[in-house]
Amino acid sequence: QNCTLIGAPVQEGTHQPGCLMGPDAFRTAGLAQELTSLGHSVTDRGNVAPRALPPQTHENQAIHHLTETRAWAEALQEAAYTAAQSGDLPIFLGGDHSLSIGTVAGVARHAADLDQPQFVLWLDAHPDMHTLGTTSSGNLHGTPLAYAMGVEGFEGHYPANEHPVDPANVCLIGIRSVDPAERALIANLPVQVADMRGIDETGIAAPLREFLAKVEAAKGRLHVSLDVDFLDPGIASAVGTTVPGGATFREAHLVMEMLHESGLMTSLDLVELNPFLDERGKTARLMVDLCGSLMGRRVLDKPTRSH
Ligand code: ARG
Ligand code: MN
Ligand code: MN
Ligand code: MN
Repeated sequence: QNCTLIGAPVQEGTHQPGCLMGPDAFRTAGLAQELTSLGHSVTDRGNVAPRALPPQTHENQAIHHLTETRAWAEALQEAAYTAAQSGDLPIFLGGDHSLSIGTVAGVARHAADLDQPQFVLWLDAHPDMHTLGTTSSGNLHGTPLAYAMGVEGFEGHYPANEHPVDPANVCLIGIRSVDPAERALIANLPVQVADMRGIDETGIAAPLREFLAKVEAAKGRLHVSLDVDFLDPGIASAVGTTVPGGATFREAHLVMEMLHESGLMTSLDLVELNPFLDERGKTARLMVDLCGSLMGRRVLDKPTRSH
């Protein structure tokens, strides 16, 4: 497969600086080399640069960097749409999770052109389902999934979302930190949510298998958005929003291997890596290692599936 790397050094969606270095940390940790070693070809398109926009404000005083977030969303939506059209696998190197405001809308626009349904797998400790009205932290990396699904509350601030993702086509796995407004939204939308409590009961494979079957049956396109905080902080500390009780090394690799075997993924975000918080590149290397499993590395040449 042809992989296109697109850097999105955005950090305005968080309270803590550092994600700006994310794309270069992925490059330094050898992402392109890992993909090449698995037989893929890689084109690194460098980093996207947003335009300067006239300042925008919102009545929610907590919100910061609204103008910059919109500018990134516009630039990334274009970049994602163009990359998806090429038929390559776009891999977006974050940058904080606000980059998905642009990337999901861009790939969903291409899916609409193809008349295929867009699906989204959100691997995260958080649902990132705030609107501009509900965020109390004002950190806009807490909003991309609500926007992607066409939830009201962004009008006139984020770009118009012309091809919202059907909430029934969205699955969240790894969830363990949910704010009240997000809880209410989840209760009212047909999204599939595998929170950590459920994962402890069923294992992580069951909800993923269920979701992948839906994608396959609908002949959908699948965008995977992998937040570093999906992982347990014990193995991945280089993220500003650590939450205890995350995916283990083995759970995370299993998710990646199942995604690979499905052959369904059509685009990928790698987000929230904050290299300033890393220990000798450990989290960056783990993310690259997970990408290896996602793109075809496996323990044995014969299938290990038992069902
Ligand atoms: N829900 C919290 C907030 O809105 C945390 C969001 C964390 N998001 C993330 N992409 N890491 O501030
Ligand atoms: Mn997130
Ligand atoms: Mn269209
Ligand atoms: Mn998160």
